[in-house]
Amino acid sequence: MSAHGSFPGSRPRRLRTTPAMRRMVAETRVHPADLILPAFVREGISEPVAIGSMPGVVQHTRDTLKKAAVEAVEAGVSGIMLFGVPLDEKKDAVGTPGTDPDGILQLALRDVRAEVGDELIVMSDVCLDEVTDHGHCGVLDAQGRVDNDATLERYAEMAQVQADAGAHVLGPSGMMDGQVGVIRDALDQTGHEDVSILAYTAKYSSAFYGPFREAVASSLKGDRKTYQQDPANLRESLRELALDLEEGADMVMVKPAGPYLDVLAKVADAVDVPVAAYQISGEYAMVEAAAEKGWIDRDKAIMETLTGIKRAGASMILTYWAVEAARQLRLS
Ligand code: PBG
Repeated sequence: MSAHGSFPGSRPRRLRTTPAMRRMVAETRVHPADLILPAFVREGISEPVAIGSMPGVVQHTRDTLKKAAVEAVEAGVSGIMLFGVPLDEKKDAVGTPGTDPDGILQLALRDVRAEVGDELIVMSDVCLDEVTDHGHCGVLDAQGRVDNDATLERYAEMAQVQADAGAHVLGPSGMMDGQVGVIRDALDQTGHEDVSILAYTAKYSSAFYGPFREAVASSLKGDRKTYQQDPANLRESLRELALDLEEGADMVMVKPAGPYLDVLAKVADAVDVPVAAYQISGEYAMVEAAAEKGWIDRDKAIMETLTGIKRAGASMILTYWAVEAARQLRLS
């Protein structure tokens, strides 16, 4: 109680008085090394192609991707997650470009590894949606449903060619049952015991993937609700988490990030492996669009989203702002 009648006895504002004081008592710091840059590389283009719904993000040529990787190293970012966009006419029902050693993703992996060696953790997406003509994350059965076990065989092959091409980390994002185990086996049987798996453990069926579909020129009709999780569910994520760890996941991820911070916090509490969060295309687009209209302060909003994701328990954040944010953090 205060000695002065109704004046407050406790004054938390004392610790907010100056920037130096706020800096000292900050509980959460985002560091450039927390950040991972997702990047797109497209076959058959000679200049980068802008992605309309993700202002500032492009589909790279093989050349500009190498430059982007070098910039990421210079900015202090930890890793890069690569997505390949093959020529439309190469996409087919089983996603052949995904297992072709000369498919665009595999070429890009070789390019980037040759450019940055081990200075940047080079990751790649293990999923069929970028390489199939129907745009689903798996192969389809006679009824047009995504066939879990037939898809696993494709993932095993993809894992091998991506590891052969130099990926340090594989990110299976298709949400097929058993995908982590099958990929671990495929890696171990082909001499890639050191390649690790960042499992998309909790991946929700989200409207916020919209801009990504433009980024990878996806031909998807319909939705992914039979394999991605229902946004209503949290306990289901803990079940997926247990399975992924049992199957050999080295790191786990929650995706999207912003609308699922409660899931992220629960997952981070439950495990002792590194936890990543993917701030996805729609989360990026929302901030960029509002900033473009002058409705929010872009730079502050970006840092606030990253801080929130870190505070909720992520030790790694995949974000399209990785390089820019890392540069800003180094100046601050
Ligand atoms: C699937 C994949 C997707 C994203 C990453 N991996 C799309 C999807 O599930 O529809 C989305 C990333 C983003 O929206 O930024 N290969």
